[in-house]
Amino acid sequence: MLTTGPRGTKDILPDTVGQWLYIEKVVRDICALYGYKEIRTPVFEHTELFLRGIGETTDVVEKEMYTFTDRGERSLTLRPENTAATVRAYLEHKLYAESSLNKLFYIGSMFRYDRPQAGRYREFHQFGIEALGGDNPAVDAEIIMLATQFLKTLGLAELELSLNSVGCPKCRPVYREKLQDFFRDKLDELCPDCRSRYDRNPMRILDCKNDKCKELSVGAPNITDCLCDECQDHFTKVQSLLTVAGIKFNLDPRLVRGLDYYTKTAFEVKYAPLGAQSAVAGGGRYDGLIEECGGNATPAVGFAVGLERVLLALEKQGLLPENELTSDAFVIALGDGAQAEAFKLLCNLRAKGLKANMDFAGRSMKAQMKQANKAAAQFAVIVGEDEIKDACAVLKNMQTGEQEKVLLEELVNKLYAEVKD
Ligand code: HAM
Repeated sequence: MLTTGPRGTKDILPDTVGQWLYIEKVVRDICALYGYKEIRTPVFEHTELFLRGIGETTDVVEKEMYTFTDRGERSLTLRPENTAATVRAYLEHKLYAESSLNKLFYIGSMFRYDRPQAGRYREFHQFGIEALGGDNPAVDAEIIMLATQFLKTLGLAELELSLNSVGCPKCRPVYREKLQDFFRDKLDELCPDCRSRYDRNPMRILDCKNDKCKELSVGAPNITDCLCDECQDHFTKVQSLLTVAGIKFNLDPRLVRGLDYYTKTAFEVKYAPLGAQSAVAGGGRYDGLIEECGGNATPAVGFAVGLERVLLALEKQGLLPENELTSDAFVIALGDGAQAEAFKLLCNLRAKGLKANMDFAGRSMKAQMKQANKAAAQFAVIVGEDEIKDACAVLKNMQTGEQEKVLLEELVNKLYAEVKD
């Protein structure tokens, strides 16, 4: 127990941190390009926020939340997603007063008590976008473009973008009734989850992974045949803007998102080679959420990308960057008498801004050379008792093997010139 992390969590070790930094840099660059600013919210929130925001009949709320009572008897929950929390921060800090459209992004851990498997974890990381305050279909198109450009910038091919409209509180009840009519005489054959979904949230039946439910869903009515004029108009405009932007998409009238706040646009990006967990990004419009959380009725749209899934996809395509762990110098001290001089040199190299390291365990020359290689140092600086007598050190180029004796007082500047020129 003490030497194993909780199920569904993962350590990001030093040799893979570079991959995360790389992805995060692509996120920040693309968000700057599109004018989205970073927001960082706490990893836990009042449970009520997620009950109201995500919806009490969703799997996330019913089965997957990490909820606990703190010592002050408050019910808190580790965020299972970050849209509701971003909305909470937007309202708490009155960001709406600063601009009519707030374009925000975040990167962080989310927590869901899911059954762990490849691509599905209990702690996972999302990069997300929330555009709060815009009702124009162009905002939907912009964020979808951003999502696809992000994935393409990383080099991912074979992406499939599915698009749907899930309607609004005006047209969805009509569809809901049609769906219930359709499933009424199949109710006994549905799985227990879907039987309870029938009354509470029948659209979720369409998203059930059970083979029998899938079979029974064939021929079910499509939401896109029930949209009101406003939703239909919005949907048509999003499609034509995406076409103008050169973004290919498939219309999928069965696309139902797992969270209840969606209205109008819903989309998902899949990378099929990932198999069962192929959804790398998902999002849509949520025009009712801000009001549900206590604000004025304000339209909004966003998405989130699962970063572990992106890493898995990059790995499959051989696109993961090498871990570039290089350093400028490794100082090697030979003999006790050389330790202090070598340490002084190390400090001076660092003071000059050079990436330098040394061994503190008094190992052999051979072992220290090995460490210099492991640290990918460009130069080794060898300080022995004999060299100290001449106020010198040996500077060895680790790539060419060339070495020369350099006066200690000149060494830092010489190494700086070699490395930085
Ligand atoms: P979501 O579809 O629940 O949406 O999650 C978005 C992405 O997070 C998924 O497509 C997937 O890549 C990743 N993901 C979800 N669960 C896991 C898991 N257990 N392990 C690994 N990756 C996972 C949302 O979270 C919405 N907040 C997106 C959004 C933002 N909608 C509007 N704004």
